[in-house]
Amino acid sequence: MKLCMIGTGYVGLVSGVCFSDLGNDVICVDKDDVKINNLKKGIIPIYEPGLEELVLKNYKNKRLNFSTNLKEAVKKSDIIFICVGTPSKKNSNSADLSQVYMAAREISKSINKFKIIINKSTVPVTTGDHVEKIIAKKVTRKYFSVVSNPEFLREGEAVRDFIYPDRVVIGSNDKKSEKILKNLYSPLISKGAKFVSTNRRAAELIKYASNAFLATKITFINEIANLCEKTGIDVEDISIGIGLDKRIGSRFLRAGPAYGGSCFPKDTKAIVSTADKFKTNLSVIKSVIKSNEDRSSILHKRVSLILKNKIKNKKIAFLGVTFKANTDDMRDSSSLKLIPYLSKRGAKIKYYDPTGSKKEFNKLNNVKFSKSIQGTVEESDLIIIHTEWNDFKSINFRKYSKNKDLIIYDMRNIFSPNKIKKMGFKYFGIGR
Ligand code: UGA
Repeated sequence: MKLCMIGTGYVGLVSGVCFSDLGNDVICVDKDDVKINNLKKGIIPIYEPGLEELVLKNYKNKRLNFSTNLKEAVKKSDIIFICVGTPSKKNSNSADLSQVYMAAREISKSINKFKIIINKSTVPVTTGDHVEKIIAKKVTRKYFSVVSNPEFLREGEAVRDFIYPDRVVIGSNDKKSEKILKNLYSPLISKGAKFVSTNRRAAELIKYASNAFLATKITFINEIANLCEKTGIDVEDISIGIGLDKRIGSRFLRAGPAYGGSCFPKDTKAIVSTADKFKTNLSVIKSVIKSNEDRSSILHKRVSLILKNKIKNKKIAFLGVTFKANTDDMRDSSSLKLIPYLSKRGAKIKYYDPTGSKKEFNKLNNVKFSKSIQGTVEESDLIIIHTEWNDFKSINFRKYSKNKDLIIYDMRNIFSPNKIKKMGFKYFGIGR
């Protein structure tokens, strides 16, 4: 099939590349000509394991192309995916849909035969209705169909999540488009992905409800972790003990810093904002947002306590600063609050992240990027394991540090407390 992806962010680029790998002809379109030229040279704008190989392979075999010419790309395609950003509006919790509507207006100028227009961007309920209205201003309805097909890719696991999804959700108000899309996804369905066919508004809500539920699960275990810290229980035992109940499930029960990233914080706020518009109180999700926001101050207090309230001149090493492993994304990472908090109080901070230094910390006092794990940790008083990169999971701290009073604060519970204690160091984790 001939596909066009509008927007080459995570969603558009990963989906476009993977669709081309499944044998479709795909044009990935973006306004940013630097990004497009780089992609043509095989330079990938995001850190995503496995993506580069697929871009190179499919660009070479000409199933994948990159362009800044949206009109041409739309004309050549049967199915057009809108994959543009839907960030939170400035000074508001609701999603800014200006890029989605702009894409719809552009598409409407180039429809020359029947096209399926798919909203893959995360959009609030009824956005598909608006997109349809925008296009209908220029094009007779029999020439197009607007469908919702949310994505459930995780950063860092996006290629795998595309190839092996738990489910493919198609929200279509017409059967013809649903059939075409089921066919498009048939290579994944035949490998075990469940196909969920519903109406457009329901598909839009499935996306937000999924992210809100996952954020709720994480927040729940983070609060239980707070209780574990007060009662001498290891939260990891609780996650295992409750997760084995199939009704609960074991995934997304890892206690840690506040959830971050480009999706959960923005999407939980957006669903609440949509519900407010429809005069419905999503009180559980509101509490989740508040609990997650309050979590940073809980973690700040804990670090202060670990250092016996003497932060000034303490040498603190951060291992990992991104919001999770396998991504270079810093959006809403809890390190963005914790590092400035400690820097303001006079700590001397070194950090290491496999994805390199971060401009977000450039202006802070005494915050330096170090190119190696050893260089980061060797002289420190406190090591904070902030992100669960594999690179950190087998570190022998004894090899790197001569400091007998070294403290390790493992915010991802990747080490066994006993192992660290046997090395002669003090260990603190989350909820243990
Ligand atoms: C999330 C969803 O998991 C995807 O299904 C969805 O497609 C995506 O948002 C999106 O809407 O685009 P992502 O934000 O990439 O994906 O990352 P997650 O792996 O979900 O992690 C989000 C945050 O939760 C991170 O800060 C992570 O550290 C935290 N987390 C996750 C925990 O603290 N504990 C867990 O058990 C799992």
